Formats: sequence, structure tokens, C-alpha cells
Amino acid sequence: MSRAATGAAPGKVILFGEHAVVYGRPAVAASLATGLGATVTPFPGGPELEVPGWDLHVRLDQKGSRFDAIARGFATALDAAGVQDRALKVTVDGELPPGVGLGSSAAFAVAVLRALGEWNHAPLTGEPLLAAAHAVETVFHGTPSGLDHTVIATGGCLRFERGAQTTFTPVPLARPVPAVVAWAPRKGSTRQAVAGLRVRHEALPAHFDRVFDAIGAVTEAGLQALASGDFDRLGQLFDLNHGLLNACGVSNVDNERMVAVAREAGAAGAKLTGAGLGGAVVAVTPLGADRVVEALQRAGYKAFQTRLGTGR
Ligand code: PMV
Repeated sequence: MSRAATGAAPGKVILFGEHAVVYGRPAVAASLATGLGATVTPFPGGPELEVPGWDLHVRLDQKGSRFDAIARGFATALDAAGVQDRALKVTVDGELPPGVGLGSSAAFAVAVLRALGEWNHAPLTGEPLLAAAHAVETVFHGTPSGLDHTVIATGGCLRFERGAQTTFTPVPLARPVPAVVAWAPRKGSTRQAVAGLRVRHEALPAHFDRVFDAIGAVTEAGLQALASGDFDRLGQLFDLNHGLLNACGVSNVDNERMVAVAREAGAAGAKLTGAGLGGAVVAVTPLGADRVVEALQRAGYKAFQTRLGTGR
């Protein structure tokens, strides 16, 4: 009799404080109700990995191809989950696009690890899951901040602060936030966005420090709006945070257009999320989320409705 094991993981958005967090200010991230699912099935020629939505088909002996990093990440996941019998195939699917700041690689890691743990009759949860996801993310990103896999494995909403050690604190939410996420291709990596801002900060340190302070204050106010479930106020604070990110020089024409279209279609507020230079935007949509999605799609962008900060 054939058997199958499954695992799932959400995507993530940064709600407040991206970029300023690099300069010691707090930031807030939340899991999405949208994510990835992984299914393990027996496969005599395995191990194999398939992600049809990303056009990915990987065998572990496929060295030197554009799939090399993903093959190494998959091998790391198999080791971390302690899988001995590797006559298996892992299929990953879901709505999360890769490479736009929605945590796709961490969601991939966590969904695959959960499915492999179940397959192995040794479910991965808590600290061991975080450690294994960190190992896979390290293969993909070198030195990951840890934010993505932490909020994705934990679910809900987390405040994080960088210091000698990055700290994560659960954020109480009155209720999950109704939202729309849209995205465009990125015109630069996270590393390039952070490096560009570093150059601008070095040229005008006192001015940029004031912008980072303002983002920090918006983040604190955002935490209160999340705790009280005041979505109109949350939207206004998204707008403010977005304006400050624009001042930081990390928003591009697609980010500006998506934010404008979402607001005009009735969103309570919208901002870019993550590193910027394209990539994703997030809008608060207590009413009329359908209209916001349609307007963004009519403008040529991909978009979906979701909720922020749900459990996993
Ligand atoms: O787009 P992402 O998910 O890579 O987010 C980057 C967040 C930054 O604050 C811009 C960088 C960082 O390391 O915190």
C-alpha cells in the first residue's frame, strides 16, 4: 500500500520597520494565510523534488545546474529530518511566488521539513524545526537574518530587533488582518537594497537617522493598532511607513504604482514590504478586498487576498 505524508507552511510579510531594523530600530513581521504545501510519496528512483509552480524538477545528483542550490537545500532537509530510506519524491505546491520578499524559501524549507518529519514518523516541531530550517536557509542565503523561517515556523506576528543577538517577541493581535498582497519582479536583491541605503546614510547620516527614528515610532504605533484591531489606523500607519521607505530610496516605480492602485481601489493603506526595488506590497483591506485585487490585476500585477498573523 502506498503512503503519503504532508506538511505546510505560510509565507510572511514585514508589516513595519524593514531597513530601519538594520539600524537598530524594531520591526514587525506576520505570517500569511497563504503559503506552500509539501507532499512526500514513495518513489523508487528518489530522492526527487518537484515544484511545478516554479518550474523546478531536481534530483540530488544534478550538480552544477541552476538547481544546484535547491538540490543542496533539499539534501540538507533530508539530513536534518534524519531520513534514511530515500526512495521518495517531494512535491511542493502553493500560491507563494519566489524571490519577491514573501518568504518563499523559508516556507519551502519549513513545509518540506514538516512533511519529511511526518514521513519519518518523527515530526519536527519547536526548536529542532527552527534549527533545521535555519540550516536549509543558510544553504539558500549564506547568512540569513533568521526572521523568515522564525515567523514562518512560529506563525502569528512577531516583533524583532537586531542587536548582538536578534530577538523575536510574539505580538498580540486583536484578530488576523484582512489584506491583499501584490508583487512585481525585483530590480535588485535585498543585499543591493541594503547596500544602496548604506551609501545614502553615510552621505547624510543625521537626516537618515531621523527617518529611521520616525519609522521606529510608526512601528510602535502599528503594534498598538494591531493589538486593538483598528484597521483604519493600521492602514494610515502603512501609508506613513511607505512614505518613509520611499524617502530611504528603496521604493521603485512598480512599488509606487501598486501602492497607489491599492489605495485608489479602497484599501485602508498600503506599503512595500521587505527590501523593495520592486517585489511585494501589502495593503490593509477591511472592506472590498476583491476590488483591490481586481484593480491590481487590471494594472498588470499579480495579487491575492489573504490574512496576516493567522496561526499556522
Ligand atoms: O525582502 P526581504 O524579506 O529579504 O526583507 C529584507 C528586510 C531588510 O530589513 C531590508 C533587510 C534585513 O536584513 O532586515
